[in-house]
Amino acid sequence: KIVPVIMAGGKGTRLWPLSRAAAAKQFIRFLGDETLLQKTLARVSDEAIYDAPIVVTNEDFRFLVAEQARELGVKLDGIILEPEARNTAAAVAAAAVIVSQRHGSDTLIQILPSDHEITVDDTYRACVQKAASAARNGKIVTFGITPTEPATGYGYIEIGADVGNGVHTVSRFVEKPNAEVAEEMLASGNYAWNSGMFVFSAGQMIAELQELAPEVLAAVEKSVENAKGDLDFTRLDGESFAESPSISIDYAIMEKTPNAAVVPSPITWSDLGSWDAIWKLAEGDENGNVVNGNATVSDTTNSLVMSRNAHLAVQGMDGVAVIASEDAVYVGRLDRAQEVGNLVKMLAANE
Ligand code: GDD
Ligand code: MG
Repeated sequence: KIVPVIMAGGKGTRLWPLSRAAAAKQFIRFLGDETLLQKTLARVSDEAIYDAPIVVTNEDFRFLVAEQARELGVKLDGIILEPEARNTAAAVAAAAVIVSQRHGSDTLIQILPSDHEITVDDTYRACVQKAASAARNGKIVTFGITPTEPATGYGYIEIGADVGNGVHTVSRFVEKPNAEVAEEMLASGNYAWNSGMFVFSAGQMIAELQELAPEVLAAVEKSVENAKGDLDFTRLDGESFAESPSISIDYAIMEKTPNAAVVPSPITWSDLGSWDAIWKLAEGDENGNVVNGNATVSDTTNSLVMSRNAHLAVQGMDGVAVIASEDAVYVGRLDRAQEVGNLVKMLAANE
């Protein structure tokens, strides 16, 4: 079986004002009844494949995680708490070290981001099984998504030789290329997007970190050694954890390791990182509008209109996002949804 490890420590600034410092996107209900974290927990509930999940998150989010798991009736194999955000390499390292101690170094881990919408069906399950068999042979396995546009917010995987059972070598891994490079990779037809999920054995990931990111591993091992914990929470030691470089697993390991493998995965997958992604994923009405909460639109097309509180009325617009939270309103063009993160930086600087 595989131990699912859910990454839930990100900030999600591009979904302002619904995603906030106090409650990042993974803890929010965007359109359905469940939050993105709950959807992720539900995704790994199949006991034929998965053991109880572990969540790695920021100290600040500990109650949100515990409460949302309880709401679903999911029993976690613990919550690992980071005293400060040091990005995903440190979070993955902490999970690998703790799982290795708890369950043995051969234990398989699947890393899952908590900001995705994925349909769990036979195709998904088959891809996970293929990934697991390659991971048993010491591979760090990614899931390759067929790219549809020259997106610059994803990792790109050049698919190499077929090594059997639906698994390929990775010729090259390029994290977040610029627009020009993304265009080239899309046109070549030989690249897949990195889904952000990874499967590997705990021991193999520790070996990769030792080789490629020894400072991350050393800091995290010390923070685990000096951690304080009870049954539910493992609090990593702050002083040692702070010594870890802040780098994502994609830059630290995936771009460098010779042991990467990819399972081309025809799964239904979407990264809900920005307002245009939410708009695309939702079923719009005949005018292409997605209207949610206390909102009305008139003479408006291809827009996302959501209100959590005040009655929001939008007229004569095309291709916009109008999002009203309890205490803030955002209005912007959907085709510039990637820029909301910059806006939030500006707001934070003016606070
Ligand atoms: N615990 C923890 N600590 N989690 C974190 C941290 C951290 O410091 N930083 C981010 N995360 C979580 C986020 O909450 C999210 O669930 C996941 O890790 C991935 O982080 P993102 O910030 O959303 O990464 P990304 O979307 O820019 O890029 C990654 O995912 C893409 C696909 O969605 C990369 O793996 C890309 O290569 C990939 O294409
Ligand atoms: Mg993401």
